[in-house]
Amino acid sequence: MVNAEPPLSLLLELTHKCPLQCPYCSNPLALERGGGELDTAAWLEVIDQAAALGVLQIHFSGGEPMARPDLPQLVKRAAERGLYSNLITSAVLLNAATLAALAGAGLDHVQISFQDSEAAGADRIGNYAGGHAKKLAAANLVRAAGLALTLNFVVHRHNIARVPDMIAMGEAFGAGRIEIANVQYYGWGLLNRAALLPTRAALDACTAAVYAARERLRGQMVIDYVVPDYYAAEPKACMGGWARRFLNISPSGRALPCHAAETLPGFDWPSVREHTLADIWNGSAAFARFRGTAWMPEPCKSCDRREIDWGGCRCQAFALTGDASRTDPACELSPDHAIMAEAAREAERAAPEFVYRRIGANVGAAQS
Ligand code: SF4
Ligand code: FES
Repeated sequence: MVNAEPPLSLLLELTHKCPLQCPYCSNPLALERGGGELDTAAWLEVIDQAAALGVLQIHFSGGEPMARPDLPQLVKRAAERGLYSNLITSAVLLNAATLAALAGAGLDHVQISFQDSEAAGADRIGNYAGGHAKKLAAANLVRAAGLALTLNFVVHRHNIARVPDMIAMGEAFGAGRIEIANVQYYGWGLLNRAALLPTRAALDACTAAVYAARERLRGQMVIDYVVPDYYAAEPKACMGGWARRFLNISPSGRALPCHAAETLPGFDWPSVREHTLADIWNGSAAFARFRGTAWMPEPCKSCDRREIDWGGCRCQAFALTGDASRTDPACELSPDHAIMAEAAREAERAAPEFVYRRIGANVGAAQS
C-alpha cells in the first residue's frame, strides 16, 4: 500500500446508453448494457469516498449521463461534498426542465459536444436527425442559466475544414472556453481510423486557423487544441500520467486509470462494489503497474521528458505494438514510430464508410 497523491479528477461513466452513435466514441467496443449499472446508492457512496480521498472535480459522463434519471441527485451530493461538478453531455436530452433540475442541484459546468458547425454533417456523424438543432438550443439555455459552458468540437476528416466556423460558433455563444479536439484513436475511433484521420495538409490548415484565432481572441475565449498523435513528434502525457491525477469508473463500477484501460490484457480491474476508492488508488496492483517511471523501458528510462509525458499512452502502445509497456509510438524516439507514419498514409486514400457506435455493431467486419 502506497499513499499516492490523491487524484485531481474522477470521471463517472454513469451509463453507456446514448441516443447518438458517434463513430469515434471513447467508450469500449464492448459497451455495457444498462442492467449491470451501479445503482444510485452505489454512485452516491463513490462520490462520498471521492471527496474523502481528496478529489477536487467530478465529471459526469457516459454514454449520455442524462439518460440516468438520478443525475440531479448525484450532482447534489457532489455539491454537498464540495466537489466541482462538470456535466459532459451530447445535450440532446437537455431542456429547460432538465437543466433547471441540474442547476438547482448545484451543477457548476456544462460541456456540450458538437459533431460539426453545421447540421447536416453533425447529424450524420451522430446518426441522430435534429440533434444539432437541439444542441444549439441547449447551449442557449445553459448560457441563460448562467452556468459555465464549454463547447467541445470533435474534429476529423469530414469536418476539419470547418474549424473556423466552429470557432465562430464559440464566439457567438460567448463561451469562455472551447475545445477543438481532433479524434483520439482508441476504441471506436481506432476502429474507424481510416474513415476519420485527416490528412497532414488538412491538419496543418486547422492548426494555423486555431493559432490565429487564439491570438485574435486572447483574453476573451480560451481555445484548447488537441492534435492527432499520428502527426505528433512527442506523445501527450495521457491522463497526466498513469494513475497520477485521474480515476475513471465504468457503468458497472470497475475502477480504471483511463477510459481505454479495459483494452489492456492481463489486468484485474478492481470494482467499487468490493473495494473503497482509497484502497483502489493506493493499493491496487493494476493502478501501480505504470505509475511513475520505474516501469519504463529505454528510450523513456533515460529521457529527460520522462516526468513530462510519462512515456505517453499505455493503451495506444498496446493497440499499436501489442505491448503496453513499450514507449508510445507517437514519440519520435520510439523504435515503433514508423507505425504512425504508415497509418497516416491511410488518410491520403478515399475514406471508407465508418461503423456507428452501438451495441451489436459489426465490429469484426471493420477490423478485418
Ligand atoms: Fe517521452 Fe519516452 Fe519519448 Fe522521452 S522517449 S519523449 S519519455 S515517450
Ligand atoms: Fe489509457 Fe492513454 S488511454 S493510458
